[in-house]
Amino acid sequence: RKDVGILAMDIYFPPTCVEQEALEAYDGASKGKYTIGLGQDCMAFCTELEDVISMSLTVVTSLLEKYQIDPKQIGRLEVGSETVIDKSKSIKTWLMQIFEEYGNTDVEGVDSTNACYGGTAALFNCVNWVESSSWDGRYGLVVCTDSAVYAEGPARPTGGAAAMAMLIGPNAPISFESKFRGTHMTHVYDFYKPNLASEYPVVDGKLSQTCYLMALDSCYKHFCSKYEKFEGKKFSIFDADYFVFHSPYNKLVQKSFARLYYNDFLHNPSSVEKDSREKLEPFSTLTGDESYQSRELEKTSQQVAKCLYDKKVQPSTLLPKQIGNMYTASIYAAFASVLHNKHSTLGGQRIVMFSYGSGLSSTMFSLKLRDGQHPFSLSNIATMLNVSEKLEARHVFLPEKFVETLKLMEHRYGAKDFVTGKETSLLSPGTFYLTKVDSMYRRYYAKK
Ligand code: ACO
Repeated sequence: RKDVGILAMDIYFPPTCVEQEALEAYDGASKGKYTIGLGQDCMAFCTELEDVISMSLTVVTSLLEKYQIDPKQIGRLEVGSETVIDKSKSIKTWLMQIFEEYGNTDVEGVDSTNACYGGTAALFNCVNWVESSSWDGRYGLVVCTDSAVYAEGPARPTGGAAAMAMLIGPNAPISFESKFRGTHMTHVYDFYKPNLASEYPVVDGKLSQTCYLMALDSCYKHFCSKYEKFEGKKFSIFDADYFVFHSPYNKLVQKSFARLYYNDFLHNPSSVEKDSREKLEPFSTLTGDESYQSRELEKTSQQVAKCLYDKKVQPSTLLPKQIGNMYTASIYAAFASVLHNKHSTLGGQRIVMFSYGSGLSSTMFSLKLRDGQHPFSLSNIATMLNVSEKLEARHVFLPEKFVETLKLMEHRYGAKDFVTGKETSLLSPGTFYLTKVDSMYRRYYAKK
C-alpha cells in the first residue's frame, strides 16, 4: 500500500468563546499575561449543551456528509480523548450509532487515552491497520475530541475545546514517513486526573513545561538519528518546511521551536548561521538540567529562531491561538491551520509533528504532502475545514458568563436526572447537543 495517511479532515469547535484580553482583566492578572505571556487570543468552551460526545458526533457526521463517504466504507474507527465520561464505555461506541443506522457494525477500534497523546495513538493505530495484513480495504477514521477545563487559577486560561475527524487510507495527500519517528515515554506526575468526581486535572504547571521540553529534546534526538540512518545525512530544521507542535498555549510552541534550534546548534552546528552560533556559544557547555532552567538561553534562542519561526511555525498557530488547548485535537488543529493558510503551496513539502501527552508519552513524526486528487486534495480539505467562516461565526461571551458556565458544569459533572436548557440558537444546523441525562446516567442527544 502506497502513501498511507490522511485523506480528509474536518474540525468542529463550540460557537462559544471568551477573549483572553477580557479574561485577563476579569482574573486580575497583569495586562498582557494571557495574550502576550501565554500568546493566546481566545478560548472556546462547551456550554451545558455540548460535550466530547456531542462534538465527536457532530464532526464525524459532518466529515462523512461533506466528503460523501458511505458509512459502510468505514472499517476502523479510533477515538483519542482524555475527557472520559462513561469510564468503561468508550466514546467510539457512541459514534457507532452513525454506522449502525447503515447496517455497519463491523468496525474495529476503541478509545485511546493518555492526556493529549490519545489522538496520536489512535492515528498510528489506524495507519498501521491500513498498512497491515488485517486491512479489509475500507477506510479508517480517527476522531480526537476534548474539552479542556481547569480549576480557577493560573491554568484556567489554557483551556479550550474541539473535535477533529481524519479519514485514513492509501494514496493520501498527507502521508506518513513512518521510518522517521522518535518516541519518548516516561513515568511522571505533571498532569493527571485522579479525582474522578471532578473534570479538572491536577497539574504541576512548571513541571509540565519542563517535561514537555525534555520530551521534545528526546524525541528530536531519536527522530534525527533515524533520519540520519535512512537518509545518510544529518537532519536540521531546514529539512522540514513546517513544524507543528501540540499547543497548550502559544508561548510554549515558541519555546519549543527555539529548543529545536538550540539542538541543531549543539548537534549540527554547521546548519546554524554564524551570527546565531556566536550568540548561542555561551550556552554550549550547559548541562541538560541547566539548559531547562536558563532564562537567558530561552530568550536568546527564541530571538535567533524568530525569523524561522515566522516561516515554519507561525502558519500552524491560528486555531490553537483562537481556540486554546484542545488536548488530543490540539496538534491536529495546528496542522489544519497550516492546510488552511498554505494549502496551495504544500505539494512536495515535509511537515514535522510533535505530539505530547502528560504523564507522559510523546512522539515526533513526519508527514509528506502532495496535492492529491479531488475530493482528497489539499485544497479541498482546506475548503471543507472552512476555518475562517467557523471562526467568524462564533459568539464572544463575557468572562462572567464563562465562569458561570463552568460553575454549572461542575455541578453537572457526574450528575444524573437533569435536562439541559432549550436555548440552542447559538448552535449551527447539524450540531449534536445534549438534551438530558436520566436516572441511570444515560445520556440523550439531539441534532439541530
Ligand atoms: N505581559 C507579558 N507577559 C507576561 C505578563 C505580562 N503582563 N505577565 C506574565 N507574563 C509572561 C511570563 O513572563 C511567562 O512567560 P515566559 O515563560 O516566557 O517568561 C508567561 O507570561 C506565563 O506567566 P507565568 O507566571 O509563567 O504563568 P503561570 O505560572 O501563572 O501559569 C502555566 C502558566 C504554568 C502554563 C499555567 O497556565 C498552567 O499550569 N497551564 C496548564 C498546564 C499546561 O498547559 N502545560 C503544558 C504542557 S502539558 C499540557 O498540554 C496540558
